[in-house]
Amino acid sequence: MPPVRPKIPTGFDHLDWIVTDDGSRTLWDRSLKESYHSGCGAVAESLVVYLSNSGVLKRLQQGLSTSVLEVGLGTCTTLLLTATLAARYQTPLDYWAVEDRLLPPELIRQLDLPRHIDGVLSENACRLPDDHCVSDSDFALLDTVLESLLRGWHADIRPDGEATSAQHQSEVERELLHIGSSISPGDHRHHSVIDLQLSDEVRLHLIAADITQLKWERLETGPSSHLLGQLDAVFYDAFSPEATPQLWSQPLLSEMYRLLRAGGTLTTYCVKSHVRKTLTGLGFDAQRLPGPVGGKREVLLAVKPD
Ligand SMILES: C[S@@+](CC[C@H](N)C(=O)[O-])C[C@H]1O[C@@H](n2cnc3c(N)ncnc32)[C@H](O)[C@@H]1O
Repeated sequence: MPPVRPKIPTGFDHLDWIVTDDGSRTLWDRSLKESYHSGCGAVAESLVVYLSNSGVLKRLQQGLSTSVLEVGLGTCTTLLLTATLAARYQTPLDYWAVEDRLLPPELIRQLDLPRHIDGVLSENACRLPDDHCVSDSDFALLDTVLESLLRGWHADIRPDGEATSAQHQSEVERELLHIGSSISPGDHRHHSVIDLQLSDEVRLHLIAADITQLKWERLETGPSSHLLGQLDAVFYDAFSPEATPQLWSQPLLSEMYRLLRAGGTLTTYCVKSHVRKTLTGLGFDAQRLPGPVGGKREVLLAVKPD
C-alpha cells in the first residue's frame, strides 16, 4: 500500500500542501490531480533527478560555468537548490525557467524551502549516485538566495500578475515572447520575462508564459541565434504526459534538443516508452537510471550526442 500523505488546503485556488517523505513540502493540484514532486521527497527528487543525473551538480562542484533551462518552475525548489549550490561553489550559473502560472510569493514563502533544503542537503547527500556529496549546511545562503528571488518577484510582478515596467527584456526574450493572438482578454497568466540577479554567481531569466506558445523559430534567424546549441542541461519537469500531453510533443522536445550543446543533457522523472521513443527519434541517447530512494523506480537521462 502506498503511504497516505494528507492534503492540507493552502488557501490558494486549487492547491493543497503535501508533506513529502524527506520532510519538504510540495503542492497538489486538485484540478489536474497531480503533485509538483514525488511524495518520496521534493528536495531529494530535485537533487537526484535533476542536479545529479544531469551532470549539473558535478559541473558546479568543478567550477564550470553552467546554463540550465527548467521547464515548469513551480515551487522554485529545483531553482533554489541549484542556485544555492552554484553560490556555494562560486560557479557562474545562467538559469532559464519557463512557467505559465507563477505561484504567489506568499505561498513560496510558506514552503519554508531554506529549512527543508538545508535538512536534506545535510542528511540525504550521500544517497546521491556517484560521489557528489553535498553535506554542508547552507541555510544562510539558501535564505539569501530565496530573499533575492522573492524581492525581485515582488518588484517585478504586480498583484494582478502583470509584469511591471521594471522587467527587462533581452533580445532573445523579445523573440521568444511574440506570443500571438491565442491569449484571451482576462487571461491572468503572465506573459513576460523577469531577469533577476540572485547572487554574484546566479542569473535567473524567468519566462512567464505558456511554453507551447513560444516562438522558437524566431531564435533561428534572429540576433540571438547564437543561443541555440549552448545549454548544458534541460530540467524537464512538466506535469505528466496524461495531464499535459502538449508538453511532451515531438516539436516541443525537438526545441529542447536544439537548445542543448553537444553532450548536453535532458533529465526528467518520466520514463514512459512513448516519451523515450520521441527523444531517441530526435537523436538523444536515452537511458533509464534508478530514481531517488523510496520514489520512482526509474527516471530518465537523455544525452545529446557529441
Ligand atoms: C511538476 S510541476 C514543476 C515543479 C517544479 N519544478 C518545482 O520544483 O516545484 C509542473 C509545472 O509546470 C507548469 N506548467 C504547466 N503547463 C505549462 C505550460 N504550458 N507552460 C509553462 N509551464 C507550464 C505548472 O504550472 C507547474 O508549475
